[in-house]
Amino acid sequence: MLAGKRILLIIGGGIAAYKSLDLIRELRRAGADVTPVLTKSAEEFVTPLSTSALAASKVYRKLFDLTDEAEMGHIELSRSADLIVVAPATADLMAKMAQGLANDLASTLLLATDTDVMLAPAMNVRMWEHPATQRNLKTLLRDGVLTVGPDEGEMACGEFGPGRMATPIAIVDAVSEHFGPRPLAGKHVIVTSGPTHEPIDPVRYIANRSSGAQGTALATALRDLGANVSFVTGPASQDRPTGVSVIEVETAQEMLDAVSATLPADAAIFAAAVVDWRVTSASDSKIKKDGSGALPQLEFAENPDILATVSRRPEGRPKLVVGFAAETDDVVANATAKLKRKGCDWIVANDVRPETGIMGGSENAVTLVTDTGADSWPRMSKTEVARALANRIADALGD
Ligand code: C5P
Repeated sequence: MLAGKRILLIIGGGIAAYKSLDLIRELRRAGADVTPVLTKSAEEFVTPLSTSALAASKVYRKLFDLTDEAEMGHIELSRSADLIVVAPATADLMAKMAQGLANDLASTLLLATDTDVMLAPAMNVRMWEHPATQRNLKTLLRDGVLTVGPDEGEMACGEFGPGRMATPIAIVDAVSEHFGPRPLAGKHVIVTSGPTHEPIDPVRYIANRSSGAQGTALATALRDLGANVSFVTGPASQDRPTGVSVIEVETAQEMLDAVSATLPADAAIFAAAVVDWRVTSASDSKIKKDGSGALPQLEFAENPDILATVSRRPEGRPKLVVGFAAETDDVVANATAKLKRKGCDWIVANDVRPETGIMGGSENAVTLVTDTGADSWPRMSKTEVARALANRIADALGD
């Protein structure tokens, strides 16, 4: 599974460090070579000797170890691995990473590396939930750091909640997934996401409740399958995905221009909730109440339909064009009609009646409509929907 993969395993100083010995065993059983690094406080929990014996490798401990510098400097050590795994990733190590500190061997390796880094956080639940740790986590995710866990459950300190290190098996699974097949390598996929804002005047606009969650999850899932993703997003509340090319737009017209400029592509997925109309009477200055009680009269024009425009391109149409349909009734019938009307290949339809909690929520229940019929998927998280869709897209582009 991990044959020939070189893992640099940084063991932080937490009670979960004892599980890292098991992790070394499981990684090696999966075929990986493991080079361990112990922080000073990790040595309070596991000994260099047992770590070295299980890894069948030298254990690296100190930054200023001249023998190590002669054999392998810290820069080389940090870059010679295929993946750096930090387990347990303590609150302290995460804070150092988020700040870019380099005051011991582990933090220096993490700052010097150009290799992917995967954290398995482990700490007391209060430490995990502390705004400082959550802020650091956000920073690290934005920097492209991968995470596995933490799990929820009873902890060594007797408290209950999230903070327990993922099991060694779960960490090995996450590592294997990271090195998994990348069927979309070399493929360019455009994803539109979020709402658009259509100005009324410089301070007011027309928008909708889209958070951009599904589009963001899709871009991430496609990236994980190796795609080169152009993520064209309106002003969404979700954090932008890492490892993709992000193009920020505001209006539907800007979104169409950005998509056109990003073509050609192998696939284009239109997950944005584009506002259907723009205000043609938009004012350059703030519209004021004049005291007479007169109401502003807005004039509208229909926005360009980006999905239909790309689907019907006479030349340079992506091989696969996918639209979304947010419906409140007759979901399948409306989605099927939309597939024909827009000329796309698939429609991912979802029921956005307020009681479903789908719009702006973390779950989705979709029906995939293609020219061969409608396939309703069970309700699942938007991340799982994204992974399933990304796999279907990979299959379609592989044919
Ligand atoms: O017509 P309706 O808005 O329901 O269609 C939804 C699908 O069309 C979504 O995939 C959306 O991203 C796309 N769309 C678009 N441009 C528009 C309106 C919708 O790309 N102006």
